Amino acid sequence: MATKIAIFASGSGSNFQAIQEAIERGELDAKVEVVVTDRPNAFVVTRAENFGIPVHTFTAKTYESKEAYETEIVTLLRDKNVEWIVLAGYMRLIGDTLLSSYTNRIVNIHPSLLPSFPGKDAIGQALAHGVKVTGVTVHLVDEGMDTGPILAQAAVEVVDGNREETETRIHALEHELYTKTLKQLFEK
Ligand code: GAR
Repeated sequence: MATKIAIFASGSGSNFQAIQEAIERGELDAKVEVVVTDRPNAFVVTRAENFGIPVHTFTAKTYESKEAYETEIVTLLRDKNVEWIVLAGYMRLIGDTLLSSYTNRIVNIHPSLLPSFPGKDAIGQALAHGVKVTGVTVHLVDEGMDTGPILAQAAVEVVDGNREETETRIHALEHELYTKTLKQLFEK
């Protein structure tokens, strides 16, 4: 049976799209039950609509606490029998409410070889540091920022000072590595 997943995203959603396309090609036995976003205007919303996938949008500042909006999300996910949460460019730290409801069932992708360059703009951090090799990490989520057990990593050569080309390589690798790692995870 297809693994029921929720995708959490705050931005463009190219990783979401790669996962959904892999599902549609029959390469990944999963079903995206809902896309959750904290950015109503993010392009991921348009992508989800194009695939006919429901979107749950929330604006954090309209809730009295993180616990309040995470409780609402957990209720929604339980209602849809979601088994795994897949973070795909979700730029918010996961709190206790989601972590305790989906312990070791939240996976994240990050554009660096963790533990190097956690947090925002990992590609910019790598370029500023002058590293020659960076990469992509897929890991389980714990209470830290881009910490948690590493499931897979792959390296990318930095194209000298060329952010655009480095970014293109990283995103292409992300799309491949995320799908492959999710497949292994869901087949366990
Ligand atoms: C991806 O590069 C992902 O690794 C990164 O956000 C981007 C989202 O791209 N995530 C993080 O930095 C998490 N700390 P996308 O919206 O096109 O999938």
